[in-house]
Amino acid sequence: MNNQQWLMIERPNGMVSEQHFTLTETKTPLLREGEVLIKTLMLSFDPAMRGWMDDKPSYLPPVAINEPMRASGIGQVVESNDDALPVGTLVQGILGWQEYSIAGPNSLFPPSALPSGTPPNIALSVLGATSLTAYFGLLKIGDPQPGETVLISGAAGATGSAAAQIAKLKGARVIGIAGGKDKCDWLLGTGIDAVIDYKSENIRARLSETCPDGIHVFFDNVGGDTLEAAIEHAADFARFVLCGSISNYNDDSPKPGPNNMFSLIAKRIRMQGFIMFDYMAEVDSAMADLVQWLTEGKLLWREDIKEGFDNIPKTFIRLFEGKNQGKQLLKLADPN
Ligand SMILES: NC(=O)c1ccc[n+]([C@@H]2O[C@H](COP(=O)([O-])OP(=O)(O)OC[C@H]3O[C@@H](n4cnc5c(N)ncnc54)[C@H](OP(=O)(O)O)[C@@H]3O)[C@@H](O)[C@H]2O)c1
Repeated sequence: MNNQQWLMIERPNGMVSEQHFTLTETKTPLLREGEVLIKTLMLSFDPAMRGWMDDKPSYLPPVAINEPMRASGIGQVVESNDDALPVGTLVQGILGWQEYSIAGPNSLFPPSALPSGTPPNIALSVLGATSLTAYFGLLKIGDPQPGETVLISGAAGATGSAAAQIAKLKGARVIGIAGGKDKCDWLLGTGIDAVIDYKSENIRARLSETCPDGIHVFFDNVGGDTLEAAIEHAADFARFVLCGSISNYNDDSPKPGPNNMFSLIAKRIRMQGFIMFDYMAEVDSAMADLVQWLTEGKLLWREDIKEGFDNIPKTFIRLFEGKNQGKQLLKLADPN
């Protein structure tokens, strides 16, 4: 089978661009025992992929030069040497920027976690890894209590919007930070209490207005100056959930951290990073909650679905330009 792939040919030093990838065509290798050939139907685009391009130790090894860019997605089994995954089965996993991939059973997401018949876009957006990230980070680390003030950065994105709404479902006052009027209007429409448009408003002034009793839980997707501003406005014993730091992902050299770290001591702030994979054993129960909120209309979401294999790199870059309106996806084919 001919297999188009986007390879990573160069590591970015600064902003990622299309020049870091090249389009190529190869043949799919022969299947071994226990393996399946998967046709990619839909790809997920995640800011963390930018970190996977750097040659630095992290929670996953770096993508190798001349390897297909690593990405998660939904695919369909088109050839099978595994009785548990017959031809036609929809699967989720790290498929990469390629039309076909080969996987063994352990490289695929447990299918039991998703309700059967879940369409690929839903499996990658509101019932996907970003919502699970929001769920675990907010509830396991932030643990918001009714009446507490929860601040979310990157709040109109896939992870942030889920975290904001889950915090609201838990009875918190929720403030979201996002870029631009359209995103802020949509976010307010999900039922949260206030929004801060960091592109047109002064974050510190707006935090003083919207968080008069201080921030009890900060779910941070952005880092940098936003994190520093949140430390300034934190309440005593605040919990800071470090989910992401997208404002730094394309820096060409490390930036100084927040200049007010002593406030963590003075205000007894607890700050903890996490990776969604830490909670894989609890995915089924988290998914049950997400499905329930979704079917009750309590969890709203947006998807931004592009099409076409040629458009893969430029779709990825949209994340760092703030162009994506909700979960960024790209469709390659419909299920057969
Ligand atoms: N810890 C984990 O396990 C885990 C798992 C998944 C995701 N994450 C993290 O969660 C965050 C959100 O990921 P997502 O997949 O849900 O993406 P997303 O929020 O749907 O999309 C990325 C958004 O980030 C914002 N952004 C881009 N550059 C920025 C900058 N320089 N400063 C401030 N905001 C910027 C843009 O929104 P605006 O237009 O509002 O600026 C953009 O739309 C990322 O930091 C990601 O790494 C962590």
